[in-house]
Amino acid sequence: MKKVTISGLQALKTAATKITALTAYDASFAKMFDEQQIDVLLIGDSLGMVLQGQDDTLPVTVDEVAYHTRAVRRGTARAFVLADMPFMSYATPADTYQNAATLMAAGASMVKLEGGAWLSDTISGLVERGVPVCGHLGLTPQSVHVFGGFKVQGREESKANKLIEDALALEQAGAQLLVLECVPTALGKAITEALTIPVIGIGAGPCTDGQILVMHDMFGISANYMPKFSKNYLQETGDMRQAVQKYIEEVKSGAFPASSHSFE
Ligand code: KIV
Repeated sequence: MKKVTISGLQALKTAATKITALTAYDASFAKMFDEQQIDVLLIGDSLGMVLQGQDDTLPVTVDEVAYHTRAVRRGTARAFVLADMPFMSYATPADTYQNAATLMAAGASMVKLEGGAWLSDTISGLVERGVPVCGHLGLTPQSVHVFGGFKVQGREESKANKLIEDALALEQAGAQLLVLECVPTALGKAITEALTIPVIGIGAGPCTDGQILVMHDMFGISANYMPKFSKNYLQETGDMRQAVQKYIEEVKSGAFPASSHSFE
């Protein structure tokens, strides 16, 4: 069993082998996903919605993400563990470094931040201090109130071009991974091809270097609604382990996401 590292994820991009990722929030699910050979486990601030029943991710705190990161880390032997920096936890350099340190000490191997080129100094400051960074562009849920809802981003040419510029700026600043959420398939492809770092998509079409789903959506048990970009693998297989296996197979083969899970 070889541990997944950021160089391993980079090698998967180079070899055009799709990266598989799921969110996880506790040791039992982390262990099960890890045993099925999921490459990346994200302790997402989606925990506010799927665990706590909040309307959005904004109320989630660093201590809550750290608590779930410790649990996921205990259940994980192989996968790469990525933790979300929650809303306003990277608003000032002092807060950023302190909060990133809390998540790394809890067991994260990388932290994820939502935002574009304006984050360049934050990212380079973290990387210089030994904290690997994953960017997050497109539908960044912490900005839901700026967007006026959970909406597909980058449909207009000017906004698509801005997202490409942002992606390049994040890579230039030192980000080593990018999550790209809810953008049209053509933009997902353009950003993936423009970057040398791996791009993991969610609702960004089939051309990204990998796919991530919120685990509750993949099992079809989310409390509120099922996003178009997700698929209920538990309904198809009737067994949690088989559901994860099928998700992995379909991501690796390119069968998921189909056009019905993607945006024009
Ligand atoms: O919080 C989360 O689960 C995420 C995924 C949607 C990528 O950021």
